[in-house]
Amino acid sequence: MKEVLVIGSGIAGMACAVRCAEQGAHVTLVSPYPSERSQSVMAAGGINAVTEQCEDGDSVASHIEDTLKGGCWIGGKDAVTGLCSSAKDTLAYLESIGTVFSLDQEGRPLRRAFGGQSHKRTYFCGSSTGKQIVSALVMEVRRHEAAGSIERRLRMHFHSALIESGECYGALLYDEQARGLVPVYASAVVMAVGGQNALFSKTTGSVLCDGYAAGRLFLQGALLKNLEFIQFHPTTLETDQKRILITEAVRGEGGRLFYEDDGQRVYFMEDKYGPKGNLMTRDVVSREIYATGKNVFLDISFLSDRLISQRLQEVRDLCRKYRGIDVSKQPIPVAPSVHFFMGGLAVHLNHETNIERLYAVGECASMYHGANRLGGNSLLAALYGGRVAADDLCAREDAPRHPDFARTRAREQRLLDAASESKSVFPVAYMRDMLADTMRAHMGIARTEESLTQGLVDVEYYQSVAGQINYDTSVSAYENYSLAGILATAHASLSCALAQRESRGSHWRSDAPQTLDDYAYATLVSYNDGAYNVWLDKEREYES
Ligand code: FUM
Repeated sequence: MKEVLVIGSGIAGMACAVRCAEQGAHVTLVSPYPSERSQSVMAAGGINAVTEQCEDGDSVASHIEDTLKGGCWIGGKDAVTGLCSSAKDTLAYLESIGTVFSLDQEGRPLRRAFGGQSHKRTYFCGSSTGKQIVSALVMEVRRHEAAGSIERRLRMHFHSALIESGECYGALLYDEQARGLVPVYASAVVMAVGGQNALFSKTTGSVLCDGYAAGRLFLQGALLKNLEFIQFHPTTLETDQKRILITEAVRGEGGRLFYEDDGQRVYFMEDKYGPKGNLMTRDVVSREIYATGKNVFLDISFLSDRLISQRLQEVRDLCRKYRGIDVSKQPIPVAPSVHFFMGGLAVHLNHETNIERLYAVGECASMYHGANRLGGNSLLAALYGGRVAADDLCAREDAPRHPDFARTRAREQRLLDAASESKSVFPVAYMRDMLADTMRAHMGIARTEESLTQGLVDVEYYQSVAGQINYDTSVSAYENYSLAGILATAHASLSCALAQRESRGSHWRSDAPQTLDDYAYATLVSYNDGAYNVWLDKEREYES
């Protein structure tokens, strides 16, 4: 029986695991926490698809065009065509496993508009679409667990991939309960570990998505791609712990952005871009908010109470709970914040990385979204990508196992043991905070050569310090060993942003605001013996 290891149990990981199990594979599905705590549950807005009930004039071709255009023509045409053409089937699959979408009074599925879309094609479950999909997939995973085809293992952290001659044959995992490293051998390993939120600390996402796995794999030879493209969601609400997402659905339902000047409301997006101004793509809206230099608000007080309860109840609850705001009477104070990483592990059309038998799906893979992702395309990409990877790896011959890995494990375990006996206490959490300060200061909405260079100087300094003493025995071993990978991801991201002397989508160089016509390639970065090498993928090997 084919053994598959899936690391990460959000929507992409579960979709992949279930699809592998359906094809007769045995899947080990590992994660530190249950799926219900994955970032996927935070996905609010919905999922894009063109179905038989589409809006007049809409088509799959139009969904493809919007996605490529929204991504500033860096997203690969073949990949995007596959994503959008199968969206109808993806939606049907979700319904078949029990996802209940919001319906109108006649029982027809409702759709809403999201930014950068030429038609209303976002299907949704109130404002908790991610939660509903996670619940449906968890039931599927349980069904396969009961049948013995999926084995769930919790409190397991990725440590490193087992690689021999450019081929992955399993992974070393840190078992929090046993406090040791365990190997899991597999004929394919699928990374589904999410984005890199912890690099910035306060974001709309989960800090459990920390960019460690991408960084560690990068140090092991995997290519990373498009790391300069970080999506700032225009409308987030500040709280002590995090930035709460005020879903784009609010603007899809008619919400209006404004600031006040001399006591007068200025609807700056509508003034500049016309009636659809509030629903420009996220890169544009975030930049415009940033450029106002003012406190910006989002108003839905004019929407009917019924519409708010039916479609935006979660938004109402969040605003009341965290900031005491009654959205039917008061505007919501909003500001852009890091939301999504278009960059990540470089993958081919089948979601395999440059390391054979090592796949990446969901937000940790860089595919489909180019320089800016459209709202409603991330759940779609997570589900589609998970299934594409599953189909590809299930169709492959099994790889022979490599017996010679005991030495690696012993070496890594010795390092961990030495760490836990270490007397030197290095405040790893403090280092993470400093890194987040650096990333927020130098990889924000507006970037310059000077600022990016300073960011790199900071990160190189953290790397030099972390290489000497990085152990604090009062925190988990994962906290300690993950630092080097996280710093590598940060270093690679700053290097990509520095190398790209142009502005495109979410990468805005205020010292190079032009978009170069002759450049529409993905950015690749590799690691070799301490050097971070950045180049354009002119062969379009990974762009798809
Ligand atoms: O605004 C939102 O609801 C976010 C959706 C998305 O990122 O796709």
